[in-house]
This record gives sequence, C-alpha cells and structure tokens, in this order.
Amino acid sequence: MAVLVTGGAGYIGSHTVAELIERNEEVIVLDNLEKGHKEALLGGKLIQGDLRDKDFVKEVFLKNDIEAVIHFAAYIEVGESVANPLKYYNNNVVSTLNLLTAMKDAGVHKIVFSSTAATYGEPENTPILETDKTFPTNPYGETKLTVEKALKWSDGAYGLKHVILRYFNASGAHEGGKIGEDHDPESHLIPIILQVALGKRDEIKMFGDDYNTPDGTCVRDYIHVSDLAQAHVLALDKLRRENESSIYNLGNGKGFSVKEVVDVVRQITGKPIKAVVAPRRPGDPATLVASSEKVKKEMNWRPKYGGLAKIVETAWNWHKNHPNGYNDLV
Ligand code: UFG
Repeated sequence: MAVLVTGGAGYIGSHTVAELIERNEEVIVLDNLEKGHKEALLGGKLIQGDLRDKDFVKEVFLKNDIEAVIHFAAYIEVGESVANPLKYYNNNVVSTLNLLTAMKDAGVHKIVFSSTAATYGEPENTPILETDKTFPTNPYGETKLTVEKALKWSDGAYGLKHVILRYFNASGAHEGGKIGEDHDPESHLIPIILQVALGKRDEIKMFGDDYNTPDGTCVRDYIHVSDLAQAHVLALDKLRRENESSIYNLGNGKGFSVKEVVDVVRQITGKPIKAVVAPRRPGDPATLVASSEKVKKEMNWRPKYGGLAKIVETAWNWHKNHPNGYNDLV
C-alpha cells in the first residue's frame, strides 16, 4: 500500500518524499505543479492534478491502494494571504475538505498534516508549547488552524487519526545536493540572503530593527528541512503503531535574529552581503521560538542539523550549484 504525499513536489514535500524513498516506502505524489517542481522528486509516482477538483481527488483514492496521507499542498505566503484571503481559504481549506472527504469515503484513516507556527499568532510564552493559545494574526495561519479543527472533529466522528506538525522556520537543503528551496517569488530570509551572496540581488532588507529583541530585529527558530522530513516519517510510524491523534511543534528551540542570520551567511559564504534596515513587515511577531520537547519525548525525534551554520551550509551548497533553482535542471 502507498503513502500519498500531497504537495510532494514542493520544498518540504520533496524532502519528505526523499526520506520515504530512502525507507523503501511506496510513494504516490499528488501535485498540481503550480508551485512544485517535478525535478524535485527523487522517486515515487507523480499524479498531476488539483485538490480543488473533488471528482479528481475521489478518483485518486478509487484507483490507488492508499494506506495513509501526508498533506503538504497549500499556499504558504503570509503577505499574500492578507491581500487575498479567499484564495487561501479555497486552496488550503476547501481542498483539504475534499481530501478528507475522499479519505473518509475510501476508508483511509491516517493523515500527517503540515501546519505552522503561524497558528499561534503573537505568542504568549517563549518557547511556545503546543498547549499555548492559538490566535493567528493572518489568514494563512487561520486556514491551517481551521484544518486542524476539521481534523479534530473528523477524528471524533469518523476515526480519522492525525498527527499535526506545526513547523517553525523551515530552511536548508538536502545533504545530497540534488534538491533544495526554490520558491517563485522568494520571500524567505535565508534564500534571499543567499541570492545577495550570489549577486542576484544588491542587498537584503531587514524588516524592522525596533522590535523588543536583543538587537531589535525579529527572532526566529530555524529548522532544517530534512529534520522536518524525518519528523513526518516518525509521525507516520506513530500513527501505524498507536493509531492515536496528536500535535507537535517542530523547531530547534533556539532563536536567531535577522542580523545574526545575515552574519552566519557572511561567515559561511565568505561574501560581504549588504544589509539595510527597512520598515517592519506587517504581521511579523517579534519572536517565535518552539519548545520541541514533546516531539523529542514522544516520537524520539532527534534533529541532525541543530546548528544554524549547518543549515546555512546545506542551503548555500544548493543555491550556489543551482542559482536559478530547478530551472537549472530542466
Ligand atoms: N525577513 C527580512 N527580510 C526579508 C525576508 C524576511 O528581514 O527579505 C525577516 C522577516 O521579517 C522575519 C524573518 O526574516 O522576521 C523570517 O522571515 P521568513 O519570511 O523567512 O519567515 P517567516 O517567519 O515570516 O515565516 C515562516 C514561514 C511561514 C510560516 C511562519 C510561521 O515561511 O510559512 O514561518 O511563523 F507561517
């Protein structure tokens, strides 16, 4: 039986597919390739199609022997979600309802769901615990929280067992160097700084230096994408073993400011990297740092790339060899 990975051609999805393939799992990737790249697939069978198409989703479950689902497919841009919330509700919520309905109808009862630190909004504690209040400050986080709630109620009603993973800042690239981060447009901090290192941009704009943090710039918890991928496989194992629903944060438990990240990239790349202070980006909380004690304890999750330098090193390896992302492989 196969594991269906929606959004498997995307950044975190493709790294999880790589991990599953390494474990000899049978993998089916469902991706509309709007944002994903088929070159990012190191294995598995690709079915190209859109989760917003209810009949198509139903057919995927009818035609394939699916044991469990890992659900990544979604829009992920916080800023865009504020400008166009209905686009996000449609793709992140309606699509997921189609997926859950098709799973229920086909008798598939295991799902690992890709959620986000954005479900917490402005945190009440640092580090953030899974039990802390969730009050998203943007539609992106709200759509993910809406799905989390649909999962909870679907467990009660249909026995749909889930593991929800709330990621902090996914970053880095596969150690093998074949896959990495390629968003268009790119909005994430580390790839943007690396584009400056590559001479593709003149400078990095640091959004705000008047936050209540040690150096005034925002603090985030950066977690390597392969460590995230490993957590998805462990979550799948847990569902198989215990058949119980649960929810976990995924981060390294250590915060780095924007200025610190720029400095680490300067050290790793050996490039000067011009950084300028720009106005705050609306909706950015000052500090987001995870407590990941629960996932370590309950799933025996052991991140391999805890340090920011190692994360940046793998990202740099990908970006310098693929300055145009997957376009360099087409
Ligand atoms: N930043 C800059 N300049 C840039 C880009 C980012 O200063 O050009 C800053 C941001 O303001 C933020 C930090 O760098 O303080 C990290 O920004 P990212 O855009 O890389 O990541 P976010 O923390 O905004 O978002 C990430 C994920 C989201 C998720 C969120 C959860 O990308 O999908 O974490 O908090 F919702």
